[in-house]
Amino acid sequence: MAGIPQNILDDIINKVDIVEVISSYIPLKKAGRNFRAVCPFHHEKTPSFMVSSDKQIYHCFGCGAGGNVFNFLMRYERLEFPEAVEAMARKAGVALPKFHSAETRKIESLSSQLHNINALAAEFYHKNIFSDAGGSARAYLHKRGITDENIKQFNLGFAPDKWDGLINFLRAGGISVSLIEKAGLAVSKSDKMGFYDRFRNRIIFPIYEIRGRVIGFGARTMDKEVTPKYINSPETQVYIKGKHLFGLNLSKEPIGTADYVAIVEGYLDFITPYINGFTSIAASLGTALTTDQIRLIKRYTHNVVMVYDADKAGELAALRSLDLLIEEDLNVKVVSLGDELDPDSFIRKNGISAFRKKIDTAQTLFDYKLGLLYRRYNRETIEDRAKIAKEMLFTINKIKNEIVKSEYVKRLASELRVKEESLRLELKNAKDKNAGFRGFELNSQKFKAAAGQLEKMLVGLAMEDKESLNKLRDNLKPSDFKDGRLNELVGIMFELGSQGIEDVCASALINRCGDSSAAELVSELCACVLDVHSDDKERVLNDCIERLKSERLKARRVAIQEELKAAEGRSDETKISQLMEEFRGLTLRQRSGLTKSGGIK
Ligand code: UTP
Ligand code: MN
Repeated sequence: MAGIPQNILDDIINKVDIVEVISSYIPLKKAGRNFRAVCPFHHEKTPSFMVSSDKQIYHCFGCGAGGNVFNFLMRYERLEFPEAVEAMARKAGVALPKFHSAETRKIESLSSQLHNINALAAEFYHKNIFSDAGGSARAYLHKRGITDENIKQFNLGFAPDKWDGLINFLRAGGISVSLIEKAGLAVSKSDKMGFYDRFRNRIIFPIYEIRGRVIGFGARTMDKEVTPKYINSPETQVYIKGKHLFGLNLSKEPIGTADYVAIVEGYLDFITPYINGFTSIAASLGTALTTDQIRLIKRYTHNVVMVYDADKAGELAALRSLDLLIEEDLNVKVVSLGDELDPDSFIRKNGISAFRKKIDTAQTLFDYKLGLLYRRYNRETIEDRAKIAKEMLFTINKIKNEIVKSEYVKRLASELRVKEESLRLELKNAKDKNAGFRGFELNSQKFKAAAGQLEKMLVGLAMEDKESLNKLRDNLKPSDFKDGRLNELVGIMFELGSQGIEDVCASALINRCGDSSAAELVSELCACVLDVHSDDKERVLNDCIERLKSERLKARRVAIQEELKAAEGRSDETKISQLMEEFRGLTLRQRSGLTKSGGIK
């Protein structure tokens, strides 16, 4: 598919209707939301050729032919790909760029250019902190317990006390000022006559995305008098605030192993615990967690400990923002360090084991919030108890697991000395306002699908919308799919998703897969979920994910037992304890997985 930019192919796909195109060649008959026909590509009497207008694909259940509108034209009219595109572009009124190369390549590669500039800038700042100019910056960091080794580990740097230090460096490397500005590193002067360095005379903290590319910077002044204390990169094409967590590139594996994450606020609140060996940690950089960040966390763990410093800890509003975590089905605990300490200063004052103890004894959000409300209201009066109940029910209402929810209602009732029934009534009143849930038949044919079919349905459902794709990504890795082709396809879908391509819709996906067998696979996946009712989609998706996950866990446990036998044979103690540890982890995870899906066996 070389040559024609993806966004133009997407545009064409969006503007032509596959139903209209195909029906100009063969008669289509409406069947529910889709259309049927006798397949033009193999000999048959009963129609098994299907066209979906929702998904803009066709699929033959008989011979397996399938794809998007381009694939149909190529096959039916025997056109080459560019010819099929040209025909549809004409029909859609989309202009194909004559010599799109230079201009579009520029747009497509802006992100990679920004990544490149960020990497160069990080290197520049880092070199500079080890030069004479960086002496005071290093001394400052040393004073805060950060060694030269740590400076290297986090690639910290120092921005020189000049207006054009970085700009000159990058320009000498042939990079245009306008690009430096797009990277957020240069600021245009108010008289529009030129640019100056955004970061000057400050310690530089590079911000990485999880795959390890520098996307932005935070910069701290060393001077108490200077405000603001930190200056950060603005949003750029590669740095969208609220989509990343500081440090996660380093801590994602420890977080997965420990199966929890401590969320802190600041740069130093990440670094100090980390260099003291507390590595299952990430920093939100001073804002409330967003849904995107929560989903990022969910790839590695479902257990979150929010670490609050004293002033935030007393705020109900800050706690309310944690309801989002509950809604996303995470277990949330809260720690308050008190005495106006943040993790960095707490650890420097009390040591890392005191910090660990704080984390280990974190309170559940329920207990923490109740404690806060008790301090705020007078629970001897019924009016105040009603207020407490309302605030607590608001959070309890977000819990997805009915058993857990019910347990909390029970506890709240006994805490507040009110009838459980009245609380349930209150809960129901709140819920009815956003009702609309429809149960799904657990014993439906689809649900009993064989493992191979399960994988296909899962990918088919994930293609339907961004939410489903995100959910898949949060829960499974491409390698969790046994079928090699699915494995590869899921990889492509995740990649597109992470590039911010909003809806990885089936027909657009086909354009990105290349060959016609991929097109057939994608259309087959779409077809196999066609009769999942839209109200049931979420449940089916969740159930498929849970089943696949538990199958993978089971398989891994069997494999571990094999490996254990072998290791015992060799008396390989390290390996044995490693395997035992992993086995324990899996058992734990399986258990929590089962309760999460409501006890499905
Ligand atoms: P804090 O004010 O708690 O700073 O802001 P800190 O992290 O403890 O910094 P140190 O210990 O004095 O060096 C928490 C986070 O909020 C963001 C930064 O990400 C900071 O780490 N922040 C704070 C800013 O972006 N700008 C500011 O001026 C202040
Ligand atoms: Mn601090």
